[in-house]
Amino acid sequence: MFFTALLATVTLSLRVATGSLLRSAQITGNTLARRKDATFITRPGVKFTNASALTNAAVVLSLKSTSGTSVGSTVLRNALASGTSTSINAAESGAGYAIDIDFGAETFSVIFDTGSSDLWLAQEGLRCVDYYGHEEEISECAFGSLYSGEIDEIAEENFNITYGDGEFLTGNLGYQTVCVGGLAVERQEVALVDLAYWNGDNESSGLMGFAYPALTSAYEGTDPTQDNVNTTDLSYTNWVFTAIEQGLMAPVFSVAISRGIDSGPSGQLALGGLPDVAHEDDWASTPLQILELTPHNTEQSNYSYYTIIPDGFLLKSNSTSQASFHTWKAGYQEHRTVSSTVTTTFPVIIDTGTTLIYLPVELAEEINAAFDPPAVYIEAEGIYEAACNAVPPYLAVVINGKAFGIDTQDLLLTNLGVDGSTGGCITGVQPIEDLYILGDSFLKNVIAVFDVGSSEMRFASRGKY
Ligand SMILES: *[C@@H]1O[C@H](CO)[C@@H](O)[C@H](O)[C@H]1NC(C)=O
Ligand SMILES: *[C@@H]1O[C@H](CO)[C@@H](O)[C@H](O)[C@H]1NC(C)=O
Ligand SMILES: *[C@@H]1O[C@H](CO)[C@@H](O)[C@H](O)[C@H]1NC(C)=O
Ligand SMILES: *[C@@H]1O[C@H](CO)[C@@H](O)[C@H](O)[C@H]1NC(C)=O
Ligand SMILES: *[C@@H]1O[C@H](CO)[C@@H](O)[C@H](O)[C@H]1NC(C)=O
Repeated sequence: MFFTALLATVTLSLRVATGSLLRSAQITGNTLARRKDATFITRPGVKFTNASALTNAAVVLSLKSTSGTSVGSTVLRNALASGTSTSINAAESGAGYAIDIDFGAETFSVIFDTGSSDLWLAQEGLRCVDYYGHEEEISECAFGSLYSGEIDEIAEENFNITYGDGEFLTGNLGYQTVCVGGLAVERQEVALVDLAYWNGDNESSGLMGFAYPALTSAYEGTDPTQDNVNTTDLSYTNWVFTAIEQGLMAPVFSVAISRGIDSGPSGQLALGGLPDVAHEDDWASTPLQILELTPHNTEQSNYSYYTIIPDGFLLKSNSTSQASFHTWKAGYQEHRTVSSTVTTTFPVIIDTGTTLIYLPVELAEEINAAFDPPAVYIEAEGIYEAACNAVPPYLAVVINGKAFGIDTQDLLLTNLGVDGSTGGCITGVQPIEDLYILGDSFLKNVIAVFDVGSSEMRFASRGKY
């Protein structure tokens, strides 16, 4: 999956959390548009300055893998079958991590996504369409149970979202009581979808975004075709930030996605603290970065995605036994020794809703070349594949001086099946032009703490498991 909220193409400048301009990395493409009236303000005061003081959370939800048996080699066959979607999309379809929530009086399974901010459910009577908007059977959207109840509808507002893999949905917004892990928020703004291009898993009925309110997808008026990110965009406080504002949970949540399970319980989401998962005690902290949302008005910057700047990447090819430490700046690449002090590199988004790792084209190329035998770029599919028995390189993400190694199982995804036309398996690191993402292939190796109270991310290695 690739459930990163996709907004209009604008030129962004990157700012550090303190607001000082770090450098003006030009990030163009499928990223953010401005949110002209975001209302959420980070609440000061509650800070976890001592990572070891974080305790296990009282509220821990099970993350369920929803890929079922459907993934198989269809993942790669889809890539070939579809002339329009790139294989990145195909490789990302199918799998997901879902949580159960109470929506009104009913329980629904929804995809858990840190790369977007809205909570929506598919409602009865919705029209399922293909990529071109042509109506299809509802079964093609593969939703779980459809919501048949009501919400306290908001007049003159509509919901309109497009995700990174091209899926799009529109609908209406309203208020409903939403209870997650026993934490009930009354009159939470939510969306009900009545039109969807969606590749579901037959289990989840919607999606719940845990990113910042700036990424919510409400618009003025009732006609989605008139929505304009520059002029009719509205913002609202989504569930996790409402729960924090209301003091229902400490301003932090943590995620442990577990490897090796394609269906059923496969990790934990802890609200207000840490999940109960074995990990090393050596934490790395790094400030969350603000992506400048408007090209012109720097006053309106807000946190949006969970964006961090890693120090760099450690790459050690099995075939060459050479370790190199990479730090990437706009447009050029530097090699340094592991012990070098590195201060600058590119921003990445921490996204549970994206399966793989997406890095700048040249870096992805170098990592894929370090497989033994080297992974190759399949032009027709737009993805890197390696022989299914290839030996992946040692790859680590360096965050605040600590290297987080990525298990070789997450670098060569043999569980996604063999590409029928090439005989290859997809690798865990793929190239992308603009919005770099550390998805589940990275997250399976760590506990990730999304500390919105102190505006930082923290990571601890889970070691070998
Ligand atoms: C952090 O918290 C732990 C546990 O409460 C404590 O033992 C430790 O001394 C604290 N460290 C610092 C630097 O305050
Ligand atoms: C969902 O169910 C439909 C019909 O039963 C089936 O054709 C499809 O493969 C299923 N999709 C997934 C992702 O399980
Ligand atoms: C809103 O939805 C319509 C119909 O799906 C789509 O054409 C349009 O691009 C969307 N606009 C925004 C701003 O998302
Ligand atoms: C929104 O504003 C940006 C920057 O001014 C512009 O490039 C873009 O085309 C606008 N988008 C729409 C849908 O008007
Ligand atoms: C978010 O945007 C609002 C409205 O522009 C602004 O008042 C607020 O200070 C911003 N918050 C942050 C953390 O920048």
